[in-house]
Amino acid sequence: MNKILLINGANLNWLGLRDPNHYGNLSLKDIEELTTEEASKFNYELIAYQSNHEGCLIDTLQSHAKSCDGIIINPGAFTHYSYALHDALLDTCLPAVEVHLSAIKQREEWRSKSVTAAACIKVIWGKKEQGYIEAVHVLMEHIQNDK
Ligand code: DQA
Repeated sequence: MNKILLINGANLNWLGLRDPNHYGNLSLKDIEELTTEEASKFNYELIAYQSNHEGCLIDTLQSHAKSCDGIIINPGAFTHYSYALHDALLDTCLPAVEVHLSAIKQREEWRSKSVTAAACIKVIWGKKEQGYIEAVHVLMEHIQNDK
C-alpha cells in the first residue's frame, strides 16, 4: 500500500492542553486519526510519529524515506531554527507539506520565519486541524501530477 509519513514535533503531544485559541481543542491522537481517515480515502496508509526530540524526528525521516511517498510535518518550534530538520527533509527527496495549527504569521515575530519551509512544497498555517486535511489533498495532488 502507498504510504504517507505524518511527523509532529515538539510539544504537539500536549495538544488538547495547549492554548485552544491557537491550537484548537483536538488531541494529537484525534488529529492523527483524522489525517489517517483522510489519507485512506485516497488508498494511502498513514504512519504517524511524534517526538519532542529533534534527533528522533530526523532518525524517523531517514528510516521511512525509502518506503513512503510523501510527508506531512508540523515541526512545532523546531520550525523556526532547525536547519538539521530542513536538511533531513530535503535529503528524503520526498514531497513534504508543512502544517501549523496556529496563525504563525500573525503571532510573535520569531514565529513568522520557518527555516524548514524551503524543504517543503507548501506551508499551511492558521487553519487548526483542517490544515492537516488540506495537507493530505495537497500531497495527493502533487503525487498524482508527478506520476
Ligand atoms: C506550531 C507553531 C509553532 O510556532 C509552535 O512552536 C508550536 C506549534 C503550530 O502548529 O501552530 O509548537 O507549529
